[in-house]
Amino acid sequence: MKLYIVSNRLPVKVSEQEGRLLFARSEGGLATGLDSLHTDYEKHWIGWPGFCPDGEECRRKTADELEALRFHPVFLTAGQIADYYEGYSNSTIWPLCHYFFAYTRYKASYREAYRAVNRLFCETVCRLAEPGDIVWVQDYQLMLLPGMLREARPELEIGYFHHIPFPSYELFRILPERAEVLRGLLGADLVAFHTHDYMRHFISTVERVLHLDFRLDEVQLGDRVVRVNALPMGINYDLYHGASQKPEVRAAVERTRRLFGSHKLVLAVDRLDYSKGILHRLWGFAAFLEHHPEYRGQVTLAMVIVPSRDHVGSYAELKTHIDEEIGSINGKYSTMDWTPVCYFYHGFAFEELAAMYCVADVALVTPLRDGMNLVAKEYIATKTDNPGVLILSEMAGAAVELSEALQINPNDIGQIERSLVEALTMPVGEQRRRIRDMQRTICTQTVDKWAADFLEELDATRRKNERLRRK
Ligand code: G6P
Repeated sequence: MKLYIVSNRLPVKVSEQEGRLLFARSEGGLATGLDSLHTDYEKHWIGWPGFCPDGEECRRKTADELEALRFHPVFLTAGQIADYYEGYSNSTIWPLCHYFFAYTRYKASYREAYRAVNRLFCETVCRLAEPGDIVWVQDYQLMLLPGMLREARPELEIGYFHHIPFPSYELFRILPERAEVLRGLLGADLVAFHTHDYMRHFISTVERVLHLDFRLDEVQLGDRVVRVNALPMGINYDLYHGASQKPEVRAAVERTRRLFGSHKLVLAVDRLDYSKGILHRLWGFAAFLEHHPEYRGQVTLAMVIVPSRDHVGSYAELKTHIDEEIGSINGKYSTMDWTPVCYFYHGFAFEELAAMYCVADVALVTPLRDGMNLVAKEYIATKTDNPGVLILSEMAGAAVELSEALQINPNDIGQIERSLVEALTMPVGEQRRRIRDMQRTICTQTVDKWAADFLEELDATRRKNERLRRK
């Protein structure tokens, strides 16, 4: 039996240079997390390869190379990228789901492109999937797809996972196409979220917009039920926990230590996104340096920002503000042998990132809103000999499981400042105890367990629906 994972992006990003195709890993929690998933099913992936090939021959070449890896590309035009990806997905749905209401843009061309691209994905799935196969749709870029598939191929087993927050009814009701989008999601047999809160918001929104009644975690639609659940996504725990044993990571640890010398290292790693609270974090760090001169020259903030969606206006503006803020902190406090913020505007290879996790005394993970946040889990998992402290926003889905982190409200700049002092003065014994407690949770709730739980529940729903149809 085949499992088709369907997501906007494939876990590989293709580009073309002088007629040669180059393959790189995609960024973002979803692609990284799901790519390391092990399952008994024959795993196939359907998604956009991250570029628009020029001409039929280039398309065919790209498709052939990807299909050999069981990656099935959906090619999008530059216009579709502008209206479906940068438009409806990332200028309408993303800000709405992250409570950035003022950033939402509504345009007829966005909504039409979103429908057309979801339809294109539907056609690709229909071409490939056979009866008995499982189709697992991922994330907000494809919310209409489960409904389209249910109509075209009612016999398929369809699951949907929402990787970002599902907002309260008061926010979601603002969306002009709210009913169409909810009906799209209800095409799935199972709709799942990272936390109970997101699930609760979804149930209440469906009840109030579509006037359907849930019985606990199920809603009946004709001769079938749709089940909802909260299943927090995990990471490939062994990969991170074993990282410090790898020679390449050890070598990178030495390089990282040399770079930061005897300074304490505070680490922040994010995709460029206003939901990540990057500016608030910089304001918090500036306040910390301002009010605690004893830490000047002693603590460095390593800020890793992975470029993302920089053609969307709000992202491009944010980038400018971040550059300015970092420039202003460094301009004010740098000395001949210390730069307060060490800024990297690019991603890192796994070994380099794992080395930074190993060395960092503090991880500052302070999103204003985040569906889950896997960086927080990766940092904790990587820790072995050298302890450290996780400062974590209450607004990240990960806060539910990582209760031993120093949890803060990222809107409170004073709290960011105080938590840095608390982290830097925390006794080593307490650091170790907190890390151990959190590792105990995340070492069992891995990405494989998450997927297995999802697929098991999806199967239980399918069996229930078969019984209902036989009645
Ligand atoms: C988040 C979303 C994913 C998305 C990723 C990267 O993790 O939940 O669906 O793929 O960000 O964003 P991008 O727009 O570059 O695919």
